[in-house]
Amino acid sequence: MNTVFDTATLREIVAQWRRKGERVAFVPTMGNLHDGHISLLTHARDLADRTVASIFVNPIQFGVGEDYTAYPSTLQADQDKLTRIGLDVLFVPNLDELYPAGMEEDTRVTVPSLSSILCGKYRPGHFTGVATVVTKLFFSVQPDYALFGEKDLQQLMVIRRMVDDLRIPVEIIGKSIVREADGLAMSSRNSYLSTEEREVAPIIYRTLQKASIDVCAPGADFRKIESSCFAHLQVSGFKPEYFSIRRSFDLAKATNQDRKLSILTAAWLGTARLIDNIQVNADD
Ligand code: PAF
Repeated sequence: MNTVFDTATLREIVAQWRRKGERVAFVPTMGNLHDGHISLLTHARDLADRTVASIFVNPIQFGVGEDYTAYPSTLQADQDKLTRIGLDVLFVPNLDELYPAGMEEDTRVTVPSLSSILCGKYRPGHFTGVATVVTKLFFSVQPDYALFGEKDLQQLMVIRRMVDDLRIPVEIIGKSIVREADGLAMSSRNSYLSTEEREVAPIIYRTLQKASIDVCAPGADFRKIESSCFAHLQVSGFKPEYFSIRRSFDLAKATNQDRKLSILTAAWLGTARLIDNIQVNADD
């Protein structure tokens, strides 16, 4: 596997592949790779002739007081995992490479319709930071396919919308959440949990599962389900930000007339901010 630090070299490598008619799949990450990333990368490798991953902890998607400086950095271990998978290129740009005009002055990409609800309400500017860096990465790699995990469902929808609106020629592929044996969604931030918190953490998924059954009951009151699940997380030791039943196609608040639902939550457990979601088809 080739580790590349600058865009010019990356583009030259990708151009050589393209001249041979090879197709390219891309998985952007912030490193500290876990089995969720590995599942995306394995799928990417099976899908295309060439596979590229990036590792870049993007400062502009972190708010003041968030974990940007504490974000786990495990480059050597990540490189070993990627070599074992058979990745072709790992792109590891530095700040100047991605923000040549400086982080404050650089161009921003915003998806207004989806960026201020749910996680966006509690992390102002976060999705603009994500959309901006993913656009830059797409223009650097110019992939045919890009793969994202469905744990970050709102992020996936922001990126899909951005790609549609900007007519970026890349196919976005969402992959289902990879969970630990007890149901906890895999996340780099799980490493912030203490042993006691780790035992409590799967309650978040069990609460989503219960909600996914309750929403299918005839005449279900979605607002009551949301508040009782929110309260259940609170008494279990979480500090929830939201627990919300949404329409899958646009993440607007759902009513019991809607059939395709996404139930999403974000909750703090100690210093870890955990997010998770579950998809429900009320017709099934
Ligand atoms: O999901 C992530 O790891 C990040 O938000 C991403 C997509 C790599 C952008 O920094």
